[in-house]
Amino acid sequence: MEIQAQFPPKTVLSTVWLGSQVNCFYETDSTNRQARKLAEEGAPHGTLVAADSQSAGKGRRGRAWASPHGVGVWMSFILRPELSPSKASMLTLVAGMAVVAGIRQISGLSPQIKWPNDAVVDGKKICGILTEMSTEEDSIRYVVVGIGINVNTESFPPEISDTATSLKLSLGHELKRAPLIGAVLKSFEQYYSRFMEYGDMTGLMDEYNEMLANRKRQVRVLDPHGSYEGMALGIDKEGCLLVKREDDSVSAVISGEVSVRGIYGYV
Ligand code: BTN
Repeated sequence: MEIQAQFPPKTVLSTVWLGSQVNCFYETDSTNRQARKLAEEGAPHGTLVAADSQSAGKGRRGRAWASPHGVGVWMSFILRPELSPSKASMLTLVAGMAVVAGIRQISGLSPQIKWPNDAVVDGKKICGILTEMSTEEDSIRYVVVGIGINVNTESFPPEISDTATSLKLSLGHELKRAPLIGAVLKSFEQYYSRFMEYGDMTGLMDEYNEMLANRKRQVRVLDPHGSYEGMALGIDKEGCLLVKREDDSVSAVISGEVSVRGIYGYV
């Protein structure tokens, strides 16, 4: 694999293990794809892949993720947690918290989380996270956490301009990407160790719920077995969104299986 640039410079990383190996590309197909390849070749826990642009950036549900040069953070890292595969989807929530904390620290903006992991500013999505996993029997071989943050993007195609934004559009000025990467990775490392203490969201739940944009808002749960509406209360320790329905019963919505939309907008 050709490593084309040293970006972010190692000096912006004040992490202990995350980014202990950094692979940077001026352009690659997808940092998730490259991270998976490295993981298959035995790359260690904490290996980071970052790119200035991606030609085939992957979003959730098979969608493409636009990743042009110079305007975003497009990065993925490899984790090798000792965890049951059923718990791995919560790592996406942990990554969402790290993105929100990193952006808050660097920009002064106050992004929130749209459950389960999208970071939103002014009710619009600023970051997407794609977590992929390889398992063997009942254990995790590796997890790749891919993070895409729209940093200095100036405009979006009409089909997503109502729901997508960038830090530059919210702040009114450009933001340097390397310190943001440093802050997000540092936050991830801290949240990850609190997550691994219990192997679930027990130690992070309160902080996550404070970041949750959907909290106390009406949402529509797009359950394949039948959609319903209710008030989002927050997450439980498994990362499920608790939704109070009209009959006062509370449903736990499992991330990855069901989508949740705001009734009055994207959040
Ligand atoms: C989403 O659809 O919300 C998830 C988008 C995830 C995009 C990031 S960019 C870095 C990493 N590499 C990819 O190909 N995808 C993720």
